[in-house]
Order: sequence, then C-alpha cells, then structure tokens
Amino acid sequence: MAALVVVGSQWGDEGKGKIVDLLAKDADVIVRYQGGSNAGHTVINDKGTFVFHLIPSGVLYRGKLCVLGNGVAIDPGGLLGELDGLKKNGIAVGKRFLICQRAHVIMPYHKAIDKAAEQAKGARRIGTTGRGIGPAYVDKMARVGIRMGDLLNPDVLKQKIQENLVEINAFLRKIYNAKGFTVQSIFKEYQAYGERLRPHIADVPLVLDKAFGRGQRILFEGAQGTHLDVDFGTYPYVTSSSSCSGGACTGSGVGPTKISAVLGVTKAYTTRVGGGPFPTELHDEIGERLMQRGNEFGATTGRMRRCGWLDMVLLRYAVRVNGLTSLAITKLDVLDGCEELNICTGYRYEGKLYREMPADLKVLQECRPIYERWTGWMEDTTGLTSYRALPSAAKRYLARVEELSTCPIDMISTGSKRDETIVIRNPLDCSRK
Ligand code: GDP
Ligand code: IMO
Ligand code: MG
Repeated sequence: MAALVVVGSQWGDEGKGKIVDLLAKDADVIVRYQGGSNAGHTVINDKGTFVFHLIPSGVLYRGKLCVLGNGVAIDPGGLLGELDGLKKNGIAVGKRFLICQRAHVIMPYHKAIDKAAEQAKGARRIGTTGRGIGPAYVDKMARVGIRMGDLLNPDVLKQKIQENLVEINAFLRKIYNAKGFTVQSIFKEYQAYGERLRPHIADVPLVLDKAFGRGQRILFEGAQGTHLDVDFGTYPYVTSSSSCSGGACTGSGVGPTKISAVLGVTKAYTTRVGGGPFPTELHDEIGERLMQRGNEFGATTGRMRRCGWLDMVLLRYAVRVNGLTSLAITKLDVLDGCEELNICTGYRYEGKLYREMPADLKVLQECRPIYERWTGWMEDTTGLTSYRALPSAAKRYLARVEELSTCPIDMISTGSKRDETIVIRNPLDCSRK
C-alpha cells in the first residue's frame, strides 16, 4: 500500500500539476481533496498544454481513476467545460472520473458575493480569484451548503435554493447594493448539471477504501499551497480550505494511518499571486527577470505573479505542518544566469530575530529578510535529467536547501515538460517512512 500526498510548500503555483502528472504514471488513483477552480495546474505533454482547475492532473493517462473528494468545492458548469475540453482533445474520462456526493457546490451567488466583497474591501482586498471559493466554504460551515448529491434530487435542490436565497438576496441587495437571484434562474441550470454529472457522483470514501484493499497506489493532489491554507497560511490572505497534508484526510474520507509519505513541491525561488505579505519579494530587475524567465502569470486569472528569493522560513514551516518526507524542487532552470542567489534564513523585526514562521501578520508585513548569499551558475540547466550533469553551484544551492529544510530532495524539475526532470528517488515508493 502506498498513499502519497503532494502539497505546495509556498503560496501556490509551485508546479504541482507537472509533478503530479509525472508521478501519476506509477499511481492507480489520483485524488483532489480541497480547493476548487481557483487552482490552475499546468500539464504539458505531446498532446499539448492543459490547465486543470478541478480535474486531477493524472487524467491524461488512460486507465487511472481520477477523483474529487468531499473537500473540493465544485463549480459544475466549469467542471463540465473542462470535461468537454478533454473530450475535444480525444481524452475520454468515462467511468474513471468520480465526484464525492458530499462535495459542496459553488453556486452563482457565491461568485457574486466573492466579487462584491472584494470590491467593497478596497485596498484591503485579498485578491481572490473571484471563483466563489470563500462564500461556498462559508455556507458549508454554516450548514446551508448544497452538495453534489443534492443536485440529483430536484425537490431537495429547489427547497435549498429557495431557503438560501431569502438571506442571500437580502445580503446582496442591502450590503452590496447588488442584484439578487431568482430560484428559477438557478434551479433549472443546476438540475441539468446534476443530470449530466450523475454517472460520476459516487461514495468516494468507499471507493478509496476498496482501492486500498486492492493494494492500489493513491496520489493526493493538493491545490494552492501551505501558506494559503486557511489555518496555517498568512491569514487572512489565504484561501478558504485546508491545503496542507491534513486536508487530504478530511477532504477525501481516508484515515491518517493510510498516508505513507508527503511530498512538498517547492519552487527554487518564491512567487505569490494576489495580496498579502511576502518578505522576500523583489521589486527590482532580478524580480522582473524571474517573472519573465519563469513566465510567472497566473494559470487561472492571468495575473502577474509577484516574485522573490527562496524563503527557508516558509519552507521549514511547510516541512513541519505537513510532515513533509521529501521535496520536489521545481523551476531550477529559471535561476540559470543569475550571478548571485539569495536564500532567506530568517527575519528581523524590531530588533528581534525570527527563525520560525511568525503568526502575526504585522511581523511578516514589516520584517526584513536575512539572506545567505550563494554563487549562481551561468550554464543552461534546461531539460537536464541527471543530477551529475548539474553545475556544481546548482548542486551547492540544492544541498543547502536540503540542509536548511532538513528534508531530502527526491525530484528536481528543470523545465515544464514531463521528461525535463531529475528523479533521485520516486516518492511513490514511500520507502523512507
Ligand atoms: P501549480 O498550480 O502548482 O500546478 O503550478 P502552475 O501550473 O500554476 O504554474 C507552474 C508553471 O511553471 C507552469 O506554467 C508550468 O508549466 C511551469 N513549470 C513547472 N515546472 C517547471 C520547471 O521546472 N521549469 C520551468 N521553466 N517551468 C516549469
Ligand atoms: P494553485 O493550485 C496561487 C490565491 C488568490 C488569493 C487567495 C484567495 O494553482 O497553486 P481564493 O479565490 O482562493 O479565495 O483566493 O489565494 N490563490 C492562489 N494562488 N495558486 C493557486 O492555486 C491559488 N488559489 C488561490 O490569488 O490571493
Ligand atoms: Mg497554479
């Protein structure tokens, strides 16, 4: 039995899609356990470039079961669009795609509230993706959410929409001066989504239990990253779900004793899209260079990603709160040609040294990063597949990352394509537990 959880260790967009696609070759089941279509996971293969928002990144291999767990917030219209897009590319998912009946549905009013709330916040806005994520999870916790299973029962669906709209419409009109919704405008559309998705809606915890029983290998694909987690991230500049490894259990119905290892996907530098503190952010030509070379534009919203140096305070914290057993370092090639590299080892704020992640937003917003300086490399590492072929300065950089994070590196990504990867050990072997 092997169950590997893949999580982002920074603020998302670490390259999880590429790594999950690569690992999925050796897995039987790939499970998304949180988030929604705020995610944008890029996978490149010989058929082209795919950006997945909801569908697990393992879907491009035939015969792999792809699953959305109860922890995922599902926009059924967007999901059907993704499935249609795959079909156009000759990829039929058929019975190998399942959605948990307990997963919550993102409704049109969630998107309306998300956008109105952001606008009302002005300069304090979070910079959400506008996909209705926060409001959908609010309804889940308030126990008024609509679940995928409800889409299959017209009476229940209609009643829930009716009840919810009483409060939602008053809220939209009075607080945000925005338009409300009618039951009819939503009900028919969502009932139709339910009918189309009916063959895929299932009892996911049971399906996964059977997969474990057969000795199958399960890969959990995290969305977002550790520092966007609603509990452990840079609150309130976070998303509204549990993107850390613990979310894999609560978001899929698998017990923690089943998880064998946790892989932290880590960009060789740091990026963030949206608002919130970012101690190592660069506002100079080096930041611009990372953005250009790394093509750092959001895969979901197209927004420019903020760029900065690798931050070991963030990474050490990610090792701790996720129980990372190994790392996959991505986009090493983007650092090619940098004469000097900085690694942040701590923060200084009001004369105090912080080696561990502070919870206080003010500290993170106003601290000064402390850097170690490392010599860069001028050689081109793009597409390298062997560790030995790396320039010695790159090896030294990676060794220092391992040392400071206290976590071994299993994989190094040197390009966006599947085979542009150095695999030191396959983390799905989970042998280090
Ligand atoms: P995710 O959200 O974590 O799946 O990451 P995204 O897909 O949003 O962003 C990662 C971007 O980096 C995508 O455009 C990938 O194709 C690209 N990428 C992934 N790994 C590498 C790499 O090692 N080198 C380069 N140059 N690009 C990479
Ligand atoms: P992947 O899976 C990067 C950010 C948004 C915003 C904050 C809250 O591709 O790594 P939300 O719409 O979730 O309420 O927005 O979280 N965010 C992401 N940033 N990658 C993502 O996903 C993200 N998903 C959400 O930019 O700052
Ligand atoms: Mg992304």
